[in-house]
Amino acid sequence: MTTGDAPRVVELGDAERTGAIALWEACGLTRPWNPPDTDFDRAVGGPTSAVLGVVEPDGTVVATAMVGHDGHRGWVYYLAVAPARRRSGLGRVLMTAAEQWLGDAGVPKVQLMVRTGNEAVQAFYARLGYAEQDTVVLGRWLRDD
Ligand SMILES: CC(C)(COP(=O)(O)OP(=O)(O)OC[C@H]1O[C@@H](n2cnc3c(N)ncnc32)[C@H](O)[C@@H]1OP(=O)(O)O)[C@@H](O)C(=O)NCCC(=O)NCCS
Repeated sequence: MTTGDAPRVVELGDAERTGAIALWEACGLTRPWNPPDTDFDRAVGGPTSAVLGVVEPDGTVVATAMVGHDGHRGWVYYLAVAPARRRSGLGRVLMTAAEQWLGDAGVPKVQLMVRTGNEAVQAFYARLGYAEQDTVVLGRWLRDD
């Protein structure tokens, strides 16, 4: 990508796996209980999910957004922009691409979860028209591993 060109968003595959995971780690998005390589493989290999990204000519992954849906609700995970590339519109480009991907799949709604402690990112989502939903997310592990 050269300055002035619109960033091209592509569906990532095995060739970008290491770079995407490095980006997620640099952005503080990984957690020990969610191995990022497994998350990446599931999303890339699944019929209703993908990992979108912007890749530099040298192969460096500078932005990602994981998308997936249940037919009604689309979800965005692992939205990440390389620290040195922030505040230049890449986050908005990835969210627009995620919405396009989900809209093309026929999904009427998109939502996402913001971890406790990452409330500062809500200002970014607010700029894009996202609003807090009147919902509490509950969860439970199905396996011990
Ligand atoms: C959140 C993140 C993806 C934003 O990426 P970005 O490329 O810097 O965002 P953009 O440049 O596209 O910003 C879009 C708009 O949001 C605003 N914005 C971006 N980050 C913001 C912040 N931290 N606080 C307030 N506004 C912010 C921009 O000023 C811009 O506003 P504009 O519409 O007036 O131009 C990036 O900061 C990031 O990777 N954070 C770490 C990972 C993370 O927390 N991901 C989300 C997990 S839920």
